[in-house]
Amino acid sequence: MRTQVGIIGAGPAGLLLAQMLHQRGIDAVVLEARSRDYVEGRIRAGLLEQGSVDTLTEAGVADRLHLEGLVHRGLELRFGGAAHRIDLAGLTGGKVVTIYGQQEAVKDMIAARLRAGLPLLFEVSNVAVHDIDTNRPRVSFRHDGRDQVLDCDIIAGCDGFHGICRAAIPPADLRIFDRIYPFAWLGILSRSRPMSEELIYARHDSGFALATMRSHAVSRLYLQCAPDEDPAQWSDDRIWSELRRRLGAADGELPEGPILQKGVTAMRSFVAEPMRHGRLFLAGDAAHIVPPTGAKGMNLAIADVRVLVRALDAFFAGEGGDLMDAYSATCLERIWKVQRFSWWMTQLLHRTDGEDAFEHRVRLAELDYLTGSVAARTTLAENYVGLPYAG
Ligand code: FAD
Ligand code: DHB
Repeated sequence: MRTQVGIIGAGPAGLLLAQMLHQRGIDAVVLEARSRDYVEGRIRAGLLEQGSVDTLTEAGVADRLHLEGLVHRGLELRFGGAAHRIDLAGLTGGKVVTIYGQQEAVKDMIAARLRAGLPLLFEVSNVAVHDIDTNRPRVSFRHDGRDQVLDCDIIAGCDGFHGICRAAIPPADLRIFDRIYPFAWLGILSRSRPMSEELIYARHDSGFALATMRSHAVSRLYLQCAPDEDPAQWSDDRIWSELRRRLGAADGELPEGPILQKGVTAMRSFVAEPMRHGRLFLAGDAAHIVPPTGAKGMNLAIADVRVLVRALDAFFAGEGGDLMDAYSATCLERIWKVQRFSWWMTQLLHRTDGEDAFEHRVRLAELDYLTGSVAARTTLAENYVGLPYAG
């Protein structure tokens, strides 16, 4: 089999890349290790920056997003028993964020690709990349019981944090930045009305909590917990009472409902530099991870793809490889700013065991400053809705 771009991974990065290349007349084959059901059912992120919505719209895969997505013009911060609204739209000249489950965006992109009859292979195994230092890189894999080889001009490693692409780059050629946080999130999905029309981020002495949603009838709620927390130790009653306490919910303010899913998400900041080795380009979680506070993971994957599409478009149009050479540095400029923001929001809102009294007071002062200063609120808002794209 032969294609221009071999894409490994059908998460948001791989699927969006395939779609945007298709719009530009560039062929791709997408190889995905999991089944379609698994990929479409995987519950992860849910908040799209304005630029991500615009990108999915330009890619022609946002019809349902515009029908079902919930537009949010602000958010609420709660701490010390008080609530403070951050007017995202007012502080950013009208920019908003949109709630739309990652798996819904993934479903839309899979449907678009299959409808167009374009190659997307699920349940491939033994995926390996070869000759990435040459102009004829290859991907070998097993599908439908047959060993196959995909000859490519370019390989896009969109296979997430645990994929094989980053590991195919010689360790001596990669610089890794890594920080593991001493806490995690217990996330639940519940068939219940959201607590409020906007998201609530709460800092409490017992730990962080976040009330978000997937629709007017389905809530997504998170509680800070230990990295090795066993979700089985959390009865439904314990979850709801802890949420009420940390979110400072007034009587009846947090509607309860059946819990549909429960899971623990680890918190990590990670960057691998550079994001390219020869003809292999990494995009999304394959190259970087942010802690979920601020919801940047999927948005950052989308931003990488925009840069990669521009570079590949120029390359296949015969305009040379300058943009491909600039790919990693262009992406990393944004990635480090988003790393900073995700780290900052995480340390501001979480409880750290062993935090000394001085740090505790400084953090409370920062929250007070943030909610009391237009300049500080603007800094939060412009990062939260998404920094402008390069170029
Ligand atoms: P992925 O979505 O990970 O996609 C990679 C794809 O590659 C997967 O489909 C995988 O099956 C496939 N793959 C892996 N290895 C191979 C292989 N060898 N061959 C072929 N295919 C392969 N972000 C937020 O902003 N907010 C959140 O609340 C949030 N929650 C999260 C919860 C969890 C449990 C996780 C893991 C992530 C969460 N994220 C969250 C991060 C966000 O979901 C990711 O940043 C986003 O999925 C990145 O997209 P991606 O396409 O780069 O990677
Ligand atoms: C969601 C997740 C986040 O990490 C966040 O900061 C906001 C929203 C969500 O799952 O909806």
